[in-house]
Amino acid sequence: MLINQDFMVRKMTLMDIDAIIRIENESFTLPWSRESYIGELNNHFANYLVVDYEGDVIAYGGIWVVFEEGHITNVAVDPEYRNAGVGHALMEELERVARQKKATRILLEVRPSNMSALALYRGMGYLDSGLRKGYYSDNNEDAIVMTKLLF
Ligand SMILES: CC(C)(COP(=O)(O)OP(=O)(O)OC[C@H]1O[C@@H](n2cnc3c(N)ncnc32)[C@H](O)[C@@H]1OP(=O)(O)O)[C@@H](O)C(=O)NCCC(=O)NCCS
Repeated sequence: MLINQDFMVRKMTLMDIDAIIRIENESFTLPWSRESYIGELNNHFANYLVVDYEGDVIAYGGIWVVFEEGHITNVAVDPEYRNAGVGHALMEELERVARQKKATRILLEVRPSNMSALALYRGMGYLDSGLRKGYYSDNNEDAIVMTKLLF
C-alpha cells in the first residue's frame, strides 16, 4: 500500500501492544510475546518507537543503548505498508535516539535469508561485521551481525 509521508514516529506505550503483537506475529517465525514487550517498556536501557499513521500503529522498532553501543532489538512494518519507506524512516529515528544517548556505533543481527531487511540495512550504511552460528532456534539459521559507526 502506498502512503504519503504523513506518518508520525513516537514512543511506544502500553496502549500500542495489541497492534504490535499482531504485526509481530505476521512478521516473525519466532515472535516475541506480549510479556516481553511489556517488560521492554520497563527496561531502562531500551527505547521503543512506533510509527503512527492516521491513528494506527503500522510499524515499530527498538534499540538498547548501553554505554557507547546501540543494539537494534526489533524492527517490523505491517505487511500492508512495506516498501513505502516506513522501515527506513523508523531506522533513522532509532539512530537519532542512539546518537542522543551518545552511542558511537549500532549493532544488529539479521538472517542471511531476509533480503528486504538486508537491503534496508545495507542501504543505510550497515556493514557485515560477523556471523553468529546457528543463532535462530527455529531453523538453526546463522545471524549476520551488522554494524554502523555513528558520526
Ligand atoms: C525489513 C522491513 C522492516 C523493511 O521495512 P520497509 O518499510 O518495507 O522498508 P523501506 O520501504 O523503508 O525500504 C528500505 C529499503 O529496503 C529496500 N527493500 C525493502 N523491501 C525490499 C524487498 N522486499 N526486496 C528488496 N529490497 C527491499 C527498499 O528498496 C529500500 O531501499 P531504497 O531506500 O534504496 O529504496 C520489513 O520488510 C519488515 O517488517 N519485514 C519483516 C520483519 C523483519 O524482517 N524485520 C527485520 C528483522 S532483522
